[in-house]
Amino acid sequence: MEEIARNCKVPPHSKWICTANHGFAPYAQEELRRMFGSVKSTMLVPGEVFAASLQAMPEDVQHRLRQAPPIFLRHTFLVDWEWCPGETEEVKPEDWLEPLRKYLMADFRLPGAKIAVQARKSEDGLWSGTALELKDRLQEDLNDVSVADFVVRDADWIISVFAGADRVYAGVAHPQDNLSDWSGGAIRFRKEEGQISRAKFKLLEAESAFGIPFESFREALDIGAAPGGWTSFLLERGLSVTAVDTGKMHPSLLSSPKLTFLQRNANRVKFKENQFDLLVCDMSWSPKLTAKLVTELLYSLVPGGTVIVTVKLLTKKPMALIQEVTDLFQEARLQVQRAKQLFHNRDEITLYMIKY
Ligand SMILES: C[S@@+](CC[C@H](N)C(=O)[O-])C[C@H]1O[C@@H](n2cnc3c(N)ncnc32)[C@H](O)[C@@H]1O
Repeated sequence: MEEIARNCKVPPHSKWICTANHGFAPYAQEELRRMFGSVKSTMLVPGEVFAASLQAMPEDVQHRLRQAPPIFLRHTFLVDWEWCPGETEEVKPEDWLEPLRKYLMADFRLPGAKIAVQARKSEDGLWSGTALELKDRLQEDLNDVSVADFVVRDADWIISVFAGADRVYAGVAHPQDNLSDWSGGAIRFRKEEGQISRAKFKLLEAESAFGIPFESFREALDIGAAPGGWTSFLLERGLSVTAVDTGKMHPSLLSSPKLTFLQRNANRVKFKENQFDLLVCDMSWSPKLTAKLVTELLYSLVPGGTVIVTVKLLTKKPMALIQEVTDLFQEARLQVQRAKQLFHNRDEITLYMIKY
């Protein structure tokens, strides 16, 4: 470690490479501060990726993040190898690739396992090629280790490497210990032919991040549904959908026998009691008015029904806003299962709630 880490200090308790959506790193840092006390951090990609030293042991950090999943911290990996050059040296990639290879070769967990290599980099740094080229290079370097398979998904172990401006960080972890098994938590979906809106990616991501079994629902209410990305997703999962929007739905949806479209203001609609078992709302509207609207429609949702709402963060104090809005939902007998800024959320978060 000493030879490899050279003149770098071993972290006090644990060091993590942390990632949030662009511009939201300060809130991810705040979440860590609230959980673990003081956080010493260094920004690696402005507003997005940072190295954080925490006064807590790795197992403790992982346990607490599992118990109370963060909203803004999208991805993290434990640094167990770190390299930085001496002051006067001109650095070549081999200077750190070779010790990194040795560190990985010595890892007894890797031979025979399914390994995903996830490489990222800062804009101007110790690796001048692309992140993909770095990943390929690392995989080539690991050919001597009898890895069962290099995979992208369902790995036994993930090798994470971040090549920063003046340091390289690496770690080996189980996918479930990184908050997301996607590199940096950036979950990608292929855009389908004829896809109505990119908003569909939010529900696809919610399905996988929250483990929501959409096909188990019967009848959904989609508020603020146009042009119909979410509605199309719900129809594909076999649900009957009542879609409400003042705007127009995409014509390709209108012939669906399972769709009822009400072109109206959402505060002017009436339904039967307990008509739906799923209510989704993606209105890009004032968060408090959205909360009011959704809670006033809760009579139409069965007890035990699921609610998914996006909450716009139109303020410089998102933590306080999220608290206020979740309080409003909780007062209306909605239990918040998860609040999370999905990779596909822009200036918003997604709430996953159950009516009790
Ligand atoms: C972000 S878009 C929804 C995108 C949609 N989830 C999709 O997947 O295509 C927000 C929609 O909310 C609708 N909206 C906003 N306020 C509304 C209201 N009071 N009643 C009905 N629809 C409303 C807008 O017309 C707009 O179509």
